[in-house]
Amino acid sequence: MRSITIRRPDDWHLHLRDGAMLEGVIGDTSRHFARAIIMPNLVPPVVTTADAKAYRDRIMAALPKGDRFEPLMTLYLTEDTSPDDVEEGARSGLVTAVKLYPAGATTNSHGGVRDMAKAMPVLERMAKIGLPLCVHGEVTTPEVDIFDREKVFIDTVLDPLRRRLPDLKVTMEHVTTSDGIDYIRSAERNIAGSITTHHLIINRNAILVGGIKPHYYCLPVAKRESHRLALRAAATSGDRRFFLGTDSAPHVDPLKECACGCAGIYTSINTMSCLAHVFEQENALDKLEAFASLNGPAWYGLAPNEDTITLVRRDTPVPYPAKIETGAGPVTVFDPMFDLFWDVS
Ligand code: DOR
Ligand code: ZN
Repeated sequence: MRSITIRRPDDWHLHLRDGAMLEGVIGDTSRHFARAIIMPNLVPPVVTTADAKAYRDRIMAALPKGDRFEPLMTLYLTEDTSPDDVEEGARSGLVTAVKLYPAGATTNSHGGVRDMAKAMPVLERMAKIGLPLCVHGEVTTPEVDIFDREKVFIDTVLDPLRRRLPDLKVTMEHVTTSDGIDYIRSAERNIAGSITTHHLIINRNAILVGGIKPHYYCLPVAKRESHRLALRAAATSGDRRFFLGTDSAPHVDPLKECACGCAGIYTSINTMSCLAHVFEQENALDKLEAFASLNGPAWYGLAPNEDTITLVRRDTPVPYPAKIETGAGPVTVFDPMFDLFWDVS
């Protein structure tokens, strides 16, 4: 097949940052994607509906002229979050979901939740009004090995929460393990999972073999190959519970290339080319539209986009920059370690 036309995709997990970085990266998303769920882990975080409104305005002001893009805002759950404020944000249409970061799990998560009991009034209200909870599904317990943190989170936090609040709609974000895939598949209702572009392509060897490669480091960290294969099988299956959330997370190079580098991989610019490559390899190009454009809106109760994009397979590799320059500094672009032939025309 030389070309494929699909409904315009959406990104159900995206870090746009703020200020000069926001200005430098937003065009890479709005070029291909119609909507994105915007992560709230700014400094300071987007905690209240008023914060989300102000951040949304800054995003719209940074949008390249002529691009149409809808940011779907999230609130950063804290132990002090007000159930009334969350409900007001949801009812006004501004707030699409609330994000749970276990405190300390990742970038700017120290204001997140330490004690789930303290977040229960908000979670109960969300279950009542049907507002989804997006979860960063990793425990932060120092004794738990970093490669096991997703599975332990499912067993000790997520499953007990879902048993207690069966009406709560939960998006398990950036699933990285077969345990996560199996958990979602085995549930009867009210859970879905987003999968990143990079976790379909790299396993943990990319980070550690032949030297430490900080540009392949993200959280949850990439796992062993068997997990990557489980993610690929889920993403390319067409199963409505799995959809794209790139978790594209720009950091300037000096903050990645140092003794304690930040977690995050920047994929907005070449995600669609990478995905077409992966789906072609899996003989599943006919499932790309479900993964990138249909399953996500269905889960969030939104209509799929009306317009389309066309991906074309070129005979020679499609050029993309190794780095983008932003007003905040250079950001290295995800290198899938193979040539990309699919291009968005
Ligand atoms: O790799 C990551 N980067 N994972 C996250 O959960 C956060 C993100 C960021 O904000 O940099
Ligand atoms: Zn993220």
